Amino acid sequence: MLDEVLEALAPLEGATVLDCTLGFGGHAEALARLAGRLVALDRDAEELERTAARLRARGAAVDARHADYAEAARVLRELGLDGVDAVLADLGVSSMQLDRPERGMSFKADGPLDMRMDRSTGKTAAEWLASASEAELAEALSAFGDEPDAAKIAARLAALVRCGRAPKTTRELARLVAEAKGLGPGRVVKKDAFAAHPAARTFQALRIAVNRERDSLAVLLEALPGLLRPGGRAAVLTFHSGEERLVGDALRRQAAAGLWRVPLEEPRPASAAEVRENPRARSARLWRAVRET
Ligand SMILES: C[S@@+](CC[C@H](N)C(=O)[O-])C[C@H]1O[C@@H](n2cnc3c(N)ncnc32)[C@H](O)[C@@H]1O
Repeated sequence: MLDEVLEALAPLEGATVLDCTLGFGGHAEALARLAGRLVALDRDAEELERTAARLRARGAAVDARHADYAEAARVLRELGLDGVDAVLADLGVSSMQLDRPERGMSFKADGPLDMRMDRSTGKTAAEWLASASEAELAEALSAFGDEPDAAKIAARLAALVRCGRAPKTTRELARLVAEAKGLGPGRVVKKDAFAAHPAARTFQALRIAVNRERDSLAVLLEALPGLLRPGGRAAVLTFHSGEERLVGDALRRQAAAGLWRVPLEEPRPASAAEVRENPRARSARLWRAVRET
C-alpha cells in the first residue's frame, strides 16, 4: 500500500519522517526520496544492516537505527529531535525474515524454531514452547492467532513438552499442528495462495508471543501522538484482528482526548489489484490519523 501510505503522510517535501519498521526498505526508499530527513528503526539488526547498505547504494538517505519501536521516543531524543512530521509503522514480519529458513518464521521451509526478530536477545520459539504451560500455550494461540483449535494444539504440544519432545524445527511444528487438527500430511498442502495453511495461525501466534509484539505495539501507540509535531501525520499498517483492536482502540481513545483530528477515518483495505499481486495484502488495513494542532 505504498501509494496510500505516501498519500496519508503527505505533504512530505522537507518533512522529518520516522519509519518505525524499516524491513526491506520499500516504504523507506520512497519516503527518503520525498522527505527532508528520514530516521528508520528496526529491531532486526541483521536485516537493518542489509537494507541500510542497499538503500545507501541506491542513493537514498536513511538514518537507520537498531531499536525496538517501543524505544522511538528515546531514539528521537538522542537525535535531538523534539518531534517529527510523519510516522509510519508497517507491523509484523518482513518477507526477508519469512524467506530465510534459518530464522524459523515460516512453515514453508524447514529451519530451527527460532522466530526472534532480534536474535541478540530473548528466548527462541523452541525455548518458549518448552517453558510454556498448556494454559499459556492455549491462551497465546487463541489471543494472538485466533486459532479455533487452540485447546487441541496446546494439549498436543504440552504433552510432548512434558516428555521432553518439544518440537525444535518449523517442519516438526507444522506437522504436529496438522495432526492435532486431525489432518493428514496430504492436507497440509496449500490449495492456492489465498488458502491459509493449517499451521499459519499457530506460527503467527508463536511469533507474536516470542517477540512480545503486543507489548511493543502498546508502548508505541501510547507514545505515537507525542512523537508528532502539531499537524503531524501517522500511518499504521495492521495485518490481523489483534493488531486492529489495539490500534483502533488506542486511536479512538486518543481522539476522544483531543490528540487526533476528528472524525478519525475508518481503516482502509488494500485495493483488489494489490491483493491479486500480493496475497499478503488481503489482510492489510491502513490506519491514518493527524495530530491535533
Ligand atoms: C512488514 S515489515 C516492514 C516492511 C517495510 N515497510 C518495507 O517496505 O519493506 C516489518 C518490519 O518491522 C520490524 N519490526 C517488527 N516489530 C518491531 C518492533 N517492535 N520494533 C522495531 N521493528 C520491528 C520487523 O523486524 C520487520 O523488519
